[in-house]
Amino acid sequence: MSESTNHPPIARSWAEPYKIKMVELLHMTTRDQRERAITEAGFNTFLLPSKDIYIDLLTDSGTSAMSDRQWAGMMLGDEAYAGSRNFFHLEEAVRQAYGYRHIIPTHQGRGAEHLLSQLCIHSGDVVPGNMYFTTTKHHQELAGGRFADVIIDEAHDSQSDHPFKGNIDLDKLSRLINEVGADKIPYLSLETNVNMAGGQPCSLENIRATCDLCHQHSIAVFLDATRAVENAFFIKQRERGCENLSIPDILSQICACTDGCTMSAKKDSLVNIGGFLALNDDELADKARNLVVVYEGLHTYGGMAGRDMEALAIGIGESVQEDHIRARIGQVEYLGEKLINAGVPVVRPIGGHGVFIDAARFLPELPREQFPAQALAAALYVESGVRAMERGAVSAGRDTETGKNIFPALELVRLTIPRRVYTQAHMDVVIESILQLHSEPERIVGVEMTYEPKYLRFFQARFNPVVGDVVLRGSATPEYMTAAPTSR
Ligand code: F0G
Repeated sequence: MSESTNHPPIARSWAEPYKIKMVELLHMTTRDQRERAITEAGFNTFLLPSKDIYIDLLTDSGTSAMSDRQWAGMMLGDEAYAGSRNFFHLEEAVRQAYGYRHIIPTHQGRGAEHLLSQLCIHSGDVVPGNMYFTTTKHHQELAGGRFADVIIDEAHDSQSDHPFKGNIDLDKLSRLINEVGADKIPYLSLETNVNMAGGQPCSLENIRATCDLCHQHSIAVFLDATRAVENAFFIKQRERGCENLSIPDILSQICACTDGCTMSAKKDSLVNIGGFLALNDDELADKARNLVVVYEGLHTYGGMAGRDMEALAIGIGESVQEDHIRARIGQVEYLGEKLINAGVPVVRPIGGHGVFIDAARFLPELPREQFPAQALAAALYVESGVRAMERGAVSAGRDTETGKNIFPALELVRLTIPRRVYTQAHMDVVIESILQLHSEPERIVGVEMTYEPKYLRFFQARFNPVVGDVVLRGSATPEYMTAAPTSR
């Protein structure tokens, strides 16, 4: 060995595979303003106006920064009611990346979920899936079905290091098929990079085995492909035999054994609005093309403007580029690892689209009835203007039969990272704010629900602190934001 190789290896960082061409100025606020804003918002971060937010980690949905190529594509919008040329670009992009034969555009993911649920689910049916997603489950129930969770147990354990916590438990699935009968199961809904589990992937092996088992019983498998590209990246990183495959290859293989997908293009595909239903079956696709005109728009635009379809077609191509996906997930990892190293309880392994704080462990003194994740998200906003989201009992809602609150094993606060939007310095501010709260959890006050909407209550529910009128007691940090607020 030569002398020069005896030095310890020098750490090599990832960096963004783009540079910044245009910036959006952020609105700085004071602690008093934030306290007022969260009170007016009923202690629900969904009800905060975005002008009052410094770093917005509410969601990765529709919040991506588009590229100059996508913006150029917006100028090529063909706003014909029927047969827009952008639709054909989109169709080609989806076929190339995902491989399905029929593409029905929708305004966003839940539009596709609505169509699929209405077309396939009958009253009394059961739809198995790897953990629920709020809108997916809701559409299944509206169509008369019932969701059955068949994800592996490790997914419910925030501290399990299982590399594929999104996997389907094939025993649970077999038992369900035996119990209710295959004829009561119209399809299995297979979510890639399971959102509610913390952005956790499925392995290619498990996807194939799940599809085999379902197909043996003539049960279709529809992918929720919303974050399938992020899932493909984890397969490349973690699954033996896949390390030399390209991201587009892995994505095609994920889709190849399934019968179609619903897609919220607002995530992986780097656009601010859009989605689609993709299907292989000709007859089902005909029915979907017929139904889409009732709820979304003609089958060649389905609720999207031509320009949006063009940006989406280009975004799909950019989303599968290896440099892009490595940097995207690298940034999420950066945030997560710093929090783990500082002892903050977060869901492990770090997920694809965000870092999920285990609020039940972060605030062990607060009973689940005081919605610790809701309280922590509100307190984080008051502390530093960072907006996160509750993903726990409020999101889980009520049992449709007993009407009682569901308390899922995971009571999480999601720090969701928009794609290509924030810098490492923003991540550092987020980390410092969380560490501040973590060092003094007793400052955070639990909340009670004062208004509960009927559907998807987490979006619009309102709360009050259980004692006093603030969710974060005292003020420990010097105000680091100095600029006086300006109205825009
Ligand atoms: N499926 C998954 C896995 C999602 O995460 C979402 C949206 C949808 C379907 C619905 O798609 O919003 O385009 O109608 N998730 C957003 C989020 C809302 O913040 O996680 P949509």
